[in-house]
Amino acid sequence: MSEKVKIGLLGCGTVGSGLVKILANHPLVEITKIAVRNEQRAQEIATNLAIEQSLFTWDINDVINDPEISIVVEVMGGVEQTKQHLLDAIAAGKDIVTANKDLLALEGSELFAAANKAGRRIMYEAAVAGGIPIISTLEQSLAANKIICLQGILNGTTNYILDLMKKEGKAFDEVLKAAQDLGFAEADPTNDIDGHDAAYKVAILASIISGKQVDVNQIYREGITKISKVDINSAHKRGYEIKLLGMIFNDEDEIDARVHPVFVPQDNPLASVAMENNAILVKADAADTLTLIGKGAGSLPTASSVAGDVLMLARGNSIAPVTSESFAKIKAMDEVENSFYIRISMHDKLGVLRDLGEAMLKHKANVKFIDQYDVHGSEAHADFLIDPIKEKELKAIIKDIEAMDSIKAVESVIRVL
Ligand code: HSE
Repeated sequence: MSEKVKIGLLGCGTVGSGLVKILANHPLVEITKIAVRNEQRAQEIATNLAIEQSLFTWDINDVINDPEISIVVEVMGGVEQTKQHLLDAIAAGKDIVTANKDLLALEGSELFAAANKAGRRIMYEAAVAGGIPIISTLEQSLAANKIICLQGILNGTTNYILDLMKKEGKAFDEVLKAAQDLGFAEADPTNDIDGHDAAYKVAILASIISGKQVDVNQIYREGITKISKVDINSAHKRGYEIKLLGMIFNDEDEIDARVHPVFVPQDNPLASVAMENNAILVKADAADTLTLIGKGAGSLPTASSVAGDVLMLARGNSIAPVTSESFAKIKAMDEVENSFYIRISMHDKLGVLRDLGEAMLKHKANVKFIDQYDVHGSEAHADFLIDPIKEKELKAIIKDIEAMDSIKAVESVIRVL
């Protein structure tokens, strides 16, 4: 039998441990070295996984410079230092598998350029939506299609929070706390709840779809911290569910790429994606519409994608990374058109609805419905839905509404799919 392809691991946390389990006794590949923080960590992991402690090192260079290792798997996280380690590994002739979305979204262009120049491969299926094979679907299965649009629940933590807010009628803070206690949400949840994690994933997907580099800083991003129980109930009552979506619309000469909460119609497959699951809906010109739903995180699901990349490389079947060094033009958010849900509190006075109607007319916004409710004493609430208008028009409407004497506050503005 021919010799196994040798793999080195940088990091052995949740995903790395899953990979060790999946690849144990694999006939084609073998993990021969694992770099971790220190000796104590090595002992803990070796005991947990029932593997030899001699596999471990606490010097990353032992992996990078091992002439027998041909594939370096990076599952340690981090950006600047990790980039340098991977550049060193590429220079040492290794192919790379990484699950690091932050690194790819922020520094991918430098890494891919180095890999291209050295004739090496970087594979990153696990960087987007964990166990869902979206990268290979776009790069291989749909390679002959023009992708018209992609809409995805790309962050499990926020989907879990929104789902529980709906099912248990609890407020955002309460559910976040419960999610942290259960270990779903990080102690510092900013990356998830403010949409950074989803934006990194959108940048990676938009880069594949456009065939160009995408600057993550140009992607419009809004998280879920302002979503209230009232919005969730209003959405549900009207035939929608609120989801945090990453969206990419592939226009001829520019990409509309963004992350924000959306009213998703209940008959859209994304609306019923529950708990911490991820889901991605792709519309392609030939294949038409497909939806992938599955685990976006977790040890074995994420390691499954990493292992798939490792095996592709080991079999010599890997695909070429994005080659263009030019940057995609990202559509300015002000020019993007959306339908909107707007919720306001107002004084219960004669003429309030007429004033609102005039503001809509002034900006040519067609109101689909308006609902006034909870009239208590001198205060009333209303929500309404308007047909697609440009974001800059919406901003002007909100400014006009906020300036009205009869309006107490614009409580919520959420886009509608
Ligand atoms: N924190 C992410 C999520 C998983 O909640 O989906 C890793 O990207």
